[in-house]
Amino acid sequence: MEKGPLLYEGKAKKLFTTDTNNVLWVEYCDQATALNGARKEQIAGKGELNNQITSLIFEKLNRAGVTTHFIKQLSKTEQLNERVEIIPMEVVLRNVVAGSFAKRFGLEEGAVLSEPIVEFYYKNDALDDPFINDEHVKFLNIATDEEIAFLKAETRTINALLKKIWSEIGLTLVDFKLEFGRRADGTIILADEISPDTSRLWDAEGRHMDKDVFRRNIGDLIEVYTNVLTKLENGVK
Ligand code: TMP
Repeated sequence: MEKGPLLYEGKAKKLFTTDTNNVLWVEYCDQATALNGARKEQIAGKGELNNQITSLIFEKLNRAGVTTHFIKQLSKTEQLNERVEIIPMEVVLRNVVAGSFAKRFGLEEGAVLSEPIVEFYYKNDALDDPFINDEHVKFLNIATDEEIAFLKAETRTINALLKKIWSEIGLTLVDFKLEFGRRADGTIILADEISPDTSRLWDAEGRHMDKDVFRRNIGDLIEVYTNVLTKLENGVK
């Protein structure tokens, strides 16, 4: 397969077309951002860690029967993905109180939610990705009632699989963000990435094994992500 021209450059990834219809060549980059891009740093090695972690997770989800955009890993920093039209919505699922949920409701981080909670955010940098409800999703023509129901159910299914994958290596899945895309035939499939950039993972001692080490300046991102990748590769706690 031949790599074609650059199609899109995001905060952490570059998407290239290929000579094959509907296949994208994705390169993971070393940029880390926080505060919706207001803070930016180059962290050497971050791209290859996230590409390898995301590839392993998506391989596991594909094998478990989830339909995703992931085709295969090409190199340490590159993978092939099915080209879909990204739905402009971040779907967040929370198992444990943390982050903006703790802030919004004035809660301490750490309480386990009796039922996981699914939230939607409108993907719009200029507006700082605002929190939206189902009716806003319909008003903005992002998704129909049926699609909203599918997105919620699929996210809960993926949560069950991810909780198991992470717990097998001793990590608690606190919360995570997913993005979905539409194929030309209208079907919706899981897209984007699943990594410590997009998930909160706590170890048995409550240490942050995710991007919060960068957001909160409480640790070395490369050391933490390397630890996560090594555990995933070796399947050990
Ligand atoms: P939050 O507590 O800041 O709302 O984040 C919830 C989860 O979603 C957390 O695992 C980090 C992830 N996330 C992203 O991947 N991208 C984002 O832009 C935001 C705001 C959160």
